[in-house]
Amino acid sequence: MCGIVAYIGGKPARELLLEGLKRLEYRGYDSAGIAVINGGLQLSKTAGRVRVLEDQLGQDDRFDGTIGLAHTRWATHGEPSDRNAHPHEDDPELGHGIAIVHNGIIENHAALKTYLMDNGHVFASDTDTEVLAHLIGHFYEGDLEASVRQALREVTGAYAIAVVCAQEPDVLVVARKGSPLMIGVGSDEYIVASDASAIVAHTNQAIELDDDTIARLTTDSFRTSTLENVTITPQMRELEVDLEQIELGSYPHYMLKEIHEQPEAIRRCLKGRVSARDGSVVLGGLNEFARELGRTRRVVFLGQGTALHAGMIASYLVEGLAKIPSRADFASEFRYRNAIIEDGTVVVAISQSGETADTHAALREASRKGAMTLGLVNVVGSTITRESDAGVYLRVGPEIGVASTKAFLGQVTASVLLATWLGRRRFLSPMEASSMLETLNTVPTLISRVLDQSDQIAEVVGKYVQRDNWLFLGRGVNYPVAMEGALKLKEISYIHAEGMPAAEMKHGPIALIDKGMPVVVVATRSSQYEKVLSNIEEVRSRGGHVIAVATEGDDSIRNICEDVFFVPDVPEVLQPLLTVVPLQILAYHAAVMRGHDVDKPRNLAKSVTVE
Ligand code: G6P
Repeated sequence: MCGIVAYIGGKPARELLLEGLKRLEYRGYDSAGIAVINGGLQLSKTAGRVRVLEDQLGQDDRFDGTIGLAHTRWATHGEPSDRNAHPHEDDPELGHGIAIVHNGIIENHAALKTYLMDNGHVFASDTDTEVLAHLIGHFYEGDLEASVRQALREVTGAYAIAVVCAQEPDVLVVARKGSPLMIGVGSDEYIVASDASAIVAHTNQAIELDDDTIARLTTDSFRTSTLENVTITPQMRELEVDLEQIELGSYPHYMLKEIHEQPEAIRRCLKGRVSARDGSVVLGGLNEFARELGRTRRVVFLGQGTALHAGMIASYLVEGLAKIPSRADFASEFRYRNAIIEDGTVVVAISQSGETADTHAALREASRKGAMTLGLVNVVGSTITRESDAGVYLRVGPEIGVASTKAFLGQVTASVLLATWLGRRRFLSPMEASSMLETLNTVPTLISRVLDQSDQIAEVVGKYVQRDNWLFLGRGVNYPVAMEGALKLKEISYIHAEGMPAAEMKHGPIALIDKGMPVVVVATRSSQYEKVLSNIEEVRSRGGHVIAVATEGDDSIRNICEDVFFVPDVPEVLQPLLTVVPLQILAYHAAVMRGHDVDKPRNLAKSVTVE
């Protein structure tokens, strides 16, 4: 959510910043802006995408400096508009030429604004960020770092910021609390960004800033310190992302690329972790806590959006394979619900980015209440991975498409591994585990078989794409898959869709079914197969058109459905890894046919770092 990039070094900042913004655009795309110090503060911003900013800048030589910052926004305070776009300046009357970009929310902005207005400040936007800019300007006495420090001490909320000042043209100040920020370290240059994707083209050495930390950067020096001005020595780490992974290649959209990367992503997630022969799972990140985890009495999965759907599946898996009571909860609800954490409770945060504010806050709360915390996270070194006791990386590679696909499969795969790992410490026999793991190893190849049906799925979508209401039904582990199918469709095609347990449909939602309404039903061979068939009949007798996801070889299902997508036969616990794939492809084609920007759906952002 909101992308920040800042640069100080010897190269032209404008090109570097614009390139960084394009890589970060999946974090937000309501507006974009840039500020460069070049004989004073040069600032340009606009509502809309980065390409609009690029056109606006043209070759204007006022922006030829070698220090600057830029921003792509996902609006929180103030509508998306030119005036609310970042960077924001301090009070121009003061003549400091301070500019700031910010990701996060300044919660006490109203009180601070009143204070500043009482002191003569006049504001040009509706944003909380401009309040922080003015506060920094208010404290400025010739030392940018000191005034940023002073301002941040007055602030409550979350922030990742970068600040420049025309009066100190060789200094870039950055700081963070609760929102991600990393500093790429090149030779005599620094590239600061919300995530690695804007850095890797320039360097693979980076410093992950800790919360409540400020860094002062010049071309040949940096110093990091706490808000109390105690110097700290940060850890440098090598970025594992390479440029090829974040390029679109020959695909028209990142989402399609990532859907097709799923076989390889799952292979990477499984690599070195599964020993099918003796039915064991090796999760290096859990070794240190093996004894404690062996005493687990309850597992709570937390996440938001797609990650929560993976958590719902995970809770079925932990109960099914490890026989441990388990549930999944919206992180945002768990956090404020005064949830009871009993002895032996393990709380697992699931997150692609590892930065989702709701999930992070809930994890902290669980830890405060004494739970052991784990993270199933994709982004290495992200906040949730650093703050959880232990975890399992998804290893699916960078996910750029705003609608999550391969990360979901990684989350489910990691959940299968975790549930098996826990199960083998309890009642799951080596034989049972062995046969399931053997099939798990073949899942990447089986996913490829589902991907091959993309054209057929597109044809089916073509028949229903004008319909504005869809239902997605499933039972057991395939109920969260139905939720995920509906979410995918909503997110990128803006079609209203609801996912629910198939049995729940008759308790109300059935009233929605009218002639020709598309109802997607996950109807694979499972313990509840017969019941699902009855639910299909209920839909049909009200005129609904059923699109089933069924098991290969189940030809008889064609007799009761309008359309069928087939997936290979696997044990029930592994089915979500296959049944979700046609639903991802379905949503993709629907969005393309409706002419939407698949990778940048309206109102969404890839990583939501505000609560
Ligand atoms: C946002 C994204 C969703 C994602 C959710 C959780 O809402 O639009 O696609 O599932 O955040 O993100 P996380 O990074 O925690 O998995």
